[in-house]
Amino acid sequence: MRTQVVIIGAGPSGLLLGQLLTRAGIDNVILEQRSADYVLGRIRAGVLEQGMVDLLAEAGADARLRELGLVHEGFSIGFGERSFRIDLKGLTAGKTVTVYGQTEVTADLMSARHEAGSEVIYAAEDVSPMDFDGGHPIVSFRKDGKGYEIRCDFIAGCDGFHGVCRRSVPSKALSLFERIYPFGWLGVLVDQPPAAHELVYANSERGFALCSMRSPKRSRYYVQVSASERAEDWSDDRFFDELRRRVPKDVADSVRAGAAIEKSIAPLRSFVAEPMRFGRLFLAGDAAHIVPPTGAKGLNLAASDIRYLFDALREHYRDGSDAGLEAYSKRALARVWKAERFSWWMTGLLHRFPESSGFDQRMQLAEFEYLCASRAASMSVAENYVGLPY
Ligand code: APR
Ligand code: PHB
Repeated sequence: MRTQVVIIGAGPSGLLLGQLLTRAGIDNVILEQRSADYVLGRIRAGVLEQGMVDLLAEAGADARLRELGLVHEGFSIGFGERSFRIDLKGLTAGKTVTVYGQTEVTADLMSARHEAGSEVIYAAEDVSPMDFDGGHPIVSFRKDGKGYEIRCDFIAGCDGFHGVCRRSVPSKALSLFERIYPFGWLGVLVDQPPAAHELVYANSERGFALCSMRSPKRSRYYVQVSASERAEDWSDDRFFDELRRRVPKDVADSVRAGAAIEKSIAPLRSFVAEPMRFGRLFLAGDAAHIVPPTGAKGLNLAASDIRYLFDALREHYRDGSDAGLEAYSKRALARVWKAERFSWWMTGLLHRFPESSGFDQRMQLAEFEYLCASRAASMSVAENYVGLPY
């Protein structure tokens, strides 16, 4: 088999790149180790920056998003009983974010790919990117017990944090930067109207909490838990009781409990691998970097990587220029590190750290009060939350 670009991984990064390439007339094959149902079963964040919305439009996968996505002009930060609204629209000259689940983004991209007549090879085993240092990369894999090889011009490593692509790079060619936080987020999805019409992030004595949503009828809630906690030990009652104790009273009174459709604990991590290109292998999305979910940057960073990578590949095939491919890693990392900073900062502002002293807590309070009192400070939060320019 031969194609122009082999994409490894059919998460949002791989599907988005595949769809953009197909529409630009660039041949591509997507290899995914899991089944389509498994990929669609993963519940993840759901706040889209405008750049992501624009890319989905360019990929021809934005019809449901336009119909069902909720445009949000602000969000609130609770601090004990106090609350402060970040007026995203007012502070950024009109920018907003769109609340729309990543699971839906994935489903829309899958159907767009299907309609375009391109398929994903699911349940591909032992996927191995090879020879990407030279001019002729090959990707081998097994499917239904048979071995295959695809020759290609480029490999896009869109295979997430645990994928094979980053691991295929000689370790001396990689620099890794990491912070693991000593807590996780216990998340619950429930078919009940959201507690508030905008997202509420809360710092409380008992730890962080977040009230989010997927639609006017479906809510997504999180509470910070210690890293050793198990989701099975949290009944729905225990979860909602804890959530209500962590958010300002007016929000707590509006939280509608229900039977959890999904309940799981996600660890919090900051991670960056540098560089993001090795010869003809390009890493994008979670394969190259992870942010803690505070700030909702994970999916949006995957989108900016794909923006840069797609533009670079199109330039290569259409204009015969490799300038974009040469610049890819540097360009993507510049934006990645700014989102890492923002996610790390928001995590630090809103969580209880096990070792945190009275001094640290006073610092969080001072930071919150500065935010409430300074337009410059809240503008900084707003411009990062809606997404820095590409
Ligand atoms: N071979 C083939 N596919 C693989 C392999 C492999 N060896 N390893 C992993 N994959 C697949 C996974 O099964 C997954 O479907 O790669 C896909 C990677 O998808 P994601 O983890 O969703 O990563 P990405 O597409 O970059 O999306 C980034 O997802 O985790 C969130 O916060 C993150 O929102 C961000 C977004
Ligand atoms: C979510 O809705 O799942 C969500 C929203 C905002 C975040 C993280 C997660 O910062």
